[in-house]
Amino acid sequence: MSPQTSDADLAVRGAARIDWIRSRMTLLAGVRARFADEQPFAGHRIGMSLHLEPKTAVLLETLQAGGAEVVATGNHGSTQDDIVAHLRGQGMTVHGTRADTLEQHHANVAAVDAARPSILLDNGADLAALAAARVDAAAVAAGDPTGGTGIIGGTEETTSGGMRLRTELAGRLPFPLIVINDSLLKAIGENKHSVGQSVVESIMRITNLRIAGRRFLVAGYGWCGRGIAQYLRAMGGKVAVAEIDDLKAFEAAWDGYRVGSIVDLAGWAEVVITATGHPDVVTAEVVDALADGTVLANAGHFPWEIDVPGLYALAIGRTTLDEAIERVDLPGGRHVVLLAEGRMMNLAGREPKGNSIEAMDLGFLLQALSLERVARDPASLVAGAQPVPDAIEREIARGMLAAMGAHR
Ligand code: NAI
Repeated sequence: MSPQTSDADLAVRGAARIDWIRSRMTLLAGVRARFADEQPFAGHRIGMSLHLEPKTAVLLETLQAGGAEVVATGNHGSTQDDIVAHLRGQGMTVHGTRADTLEQHHANVAAVDAARPSILLDNGADLAALAAARVDAAAVAAGDPTGGTGIIGGTEETTSGGMRLRTELAGRLPFPLIVINDSLLKAIGENKHSVGQSVVESIMRITNLRIAGRRFLVAGYGWCGRGIAQYLRAMGGKVAVAEIDDLKAFEAAWDGYRVGSIVDLAGWAEVVITATGHPDVVTAEVVDALADGTVLANAGHFPWEIDVPGLYALAIGRTTLDEAIERVDLPGGRHVVLLAEGRMMNLAGREPKGNSIEAMDLGFLLQALSLERVARDPASLVAGAQPVPDAIEREIARGMLAAMGAHR
């Protein structure tokens, strides 16, 4: 982006990108029309901290249509300036730019808290932690359900934020926070099907290798691993699974995959993909067993599943071959190919797409309906972290089926 690009130019570009995304977020379109009619968020200020990109923009528009005043910031390093410009043009208060330092990012989150939102849309429990510091014990004792913060409740997008609410912040928040990522619907729609699709798309996009007939080893047969294995096989890949949980390993075996230990299967694989959420899955012992030229990729959240420092310590040479592709030469004449330095590979390389529009439509509908529950009936929820109410999950599943013409 040239420094001369004006805010107005940026906003026009942002608006055009959002138009395409909005046109395919049909679930949110339905709820936006109802919200516009019913105004469930009238009088509320929603404070948000979440990736600022086109799909999030459609969620924010939906909340604004329902009467909310929106004060928002993004995640560090992923804010899209054209989207910010567009949202500001729509009357929202948005803090942050892509170039922000970590310090500036923290200041942005603090600015959202300082706007004294009445409802939170949180990510990683950053806003909840700031709110917890403002909770007044006397107000709680006097029966104020906001604990003097003015916050009636909110949502938390991530599993890691949910963990934080259940540990570090347990018992410190008098208001409810619905953890969106705990939803079964989201696990099916996003972790399984969307990650499955995007990991396969990303291997093809980053490496340009064929899938058909190639041997893939997927480590972890949880929600993401199941999807990755399924989509690789659908494209003609031969898939093996390494899973430490007995029941999931059994499921993988009866789903028709070759199952074994990662060390035993390492020499068979041409591509190894980790999706466990745990550290040190591809260790020096695994690397030792790999065939020459094996590709290593990680789909898990943290860049620790492939022991990259350990791999680099073994290396006798390293060459960047292309964006997100690195050749690592090992003693004895073998080499491996590491994608995205072991970071989440489906968000790496040129023009990563991330999760499919429909998966985000589903996830953000969970957000919108959970926030509506908070706004309309906070007393129906308990204080602190909790899953998405079952009725909301089922309503969305029915809506999704109807949208696909799968009437029952
Ligand atoms: P999950 O808990 O459903 O599955 C993880 C599986 O890995 C479990 O079955 C567990 O037994 C297994 N496992 C743990 N350690 C292992 C080891 N050393 N070897 C083999 N298997 C092992 O979790 P889910 O939903 O599949 O998520 C996995 C990771 O993917 C998490 O880090 C999550 O944050 C991340 N994720 C990534 C996304 C992306 O776009 N790339 C999107 C959503 C989640």
